[in-house]
Amino acid sequence: MANIIKIMEGFSFIPRSELNLLEALESQKVNVDYQCREGFCGSCQVQLLEGEVEYTSEPIAFIPEGRILPCCCNAKSDLTIEIPGGCHLKKTE
Ligand code: FES
Repeated sequence: MANIIKIMEGFSFIPRSELNLLEALESQKVNVDYQCREGFCGSCQVQLLEGEVEYTSEPIAFIPEGRILPCCCNAKSDLTIEIPGGCHLKKTE
């Protein structure tokens, strides 16, 4: 069954299963910082408030407790996350 991704501020969606969490957030036009997109730099990290993720590749970056790297994981259950700096949607032209 599809998992639901909830972002603290009240936005939620069901991600397409072939996307990692970062791609899923981007598909909803949610702004998340990133650089390497491969688990090296740690710049994409978000707070995991509820739920479980599964890493598709072992992250190299240090991950503080309670945080996850969305560029290399998928939702394993329904998730509630908090994006540092708040949830901002990208503007569409
Ligand atoms: S973008 Fe570098 S660890 Fe996710």
